[in-house]
Amino acid sequence: MVGYDNLEIRPLCRAFGAEIIGVDLSRPVDDDLYARIYAAFLDRQLLLFRDQDLPPASQVALGQRFGEVQVHVMNQYHADGFPELYFLSNLDDNGEPSGKHPDKGTLAWHTDGSWRRVTGQATFLYSVEVPKEGGETHFCDMYAAYEALSDVMKQRLEGMRAVHNLDFSRSRRHAEDPMTDAQKRAAPPIDHPVVRTHPETGRKCIFLGDHAETIAGLDYEEGRGLVEEVNTLAVRPEFTYCHQWRPRDLVIWDNRCLMHRATSYDSARERRVMRRCTILGEIPG
Ligand code: SIN
Repeated sequence: MVGYDNLEIRPLCRAFGAEIIGVDLSRPVDDDLYARIYAAFLDRQLLLFRDQDLPPASQVALGQRFGEVQVHVMNQYHADGFPELYFLSNLDDNGEPSGKHPDKGTLAWHTDGSWRRVTGQATFLYSVEVPKEGGETHFCDMYAAYEALSDVMKQRLEGMRAVHNLDFSRSRRHAEDPMTDAQKRAAPPIDHPVVRTHPETGRKCIFLGDHAETIAGLDYEEGRGLVEEVNTLAVRPEFTYCHQWRPRDLVIWDNRCLMHRATSYDSARERRVMRRCTILGEIPG
């Protein structure tokens, strides 16, 4: 445990994740505090802040401390008055549980914004209402996943590029509400290295997930098979952390080296309302 005056950094699990204690994010984050938070973010990849008062404008402002905030192409999810926030709520127009999961794509392991040329650096996910059971978020360490690959697999993946395609993952997981033609035009398939080097830590990690469709230059089915194989190899219990939400939690994670997925809950009886803000990073290298 490292102490910074009244700020404490407590590991959440062995490999990654930390709870930051002693910080009130409703107050301005000065340069010194920002530097400490950012150093912990690079070191631990995921930061948890409990019991934070973070209305939408403050969430966006906090995100902007990290960089440019993404305005998601799936504009039906924009929070009222805040296109920078992706609003995940199962409540209907009367404020009652609708029985519909807002985005079933989030139930599969993925990396936010991997379907963009400039991919997601960090995501800030804030819990407004959470179910009593289920609705956790799992995270998986892609540095460890890369390091655990066999030498043969590492060599095979060297130089390979995967095609990431939001239309592919959306059609597969949420076919009843497909992308519009305008959304498809705004998010064409793009390719990224299967193994990327984190631009700030210099460490290698796997960069695939549910938006990765196939491998550029390979036969489509062979590429799909390889994407599935590596995605499956990547996720092991010893590399994962399960976050059980309380209301007013903020979790910030590094999309360049973690994958995540939500777990299901009883969307007809329970309430789950989350706000997500994703910060743009760089073109993976
Ligand atoms: C997401 O996949 O970005 C959201 C995860 C969640 O709702 O827990």
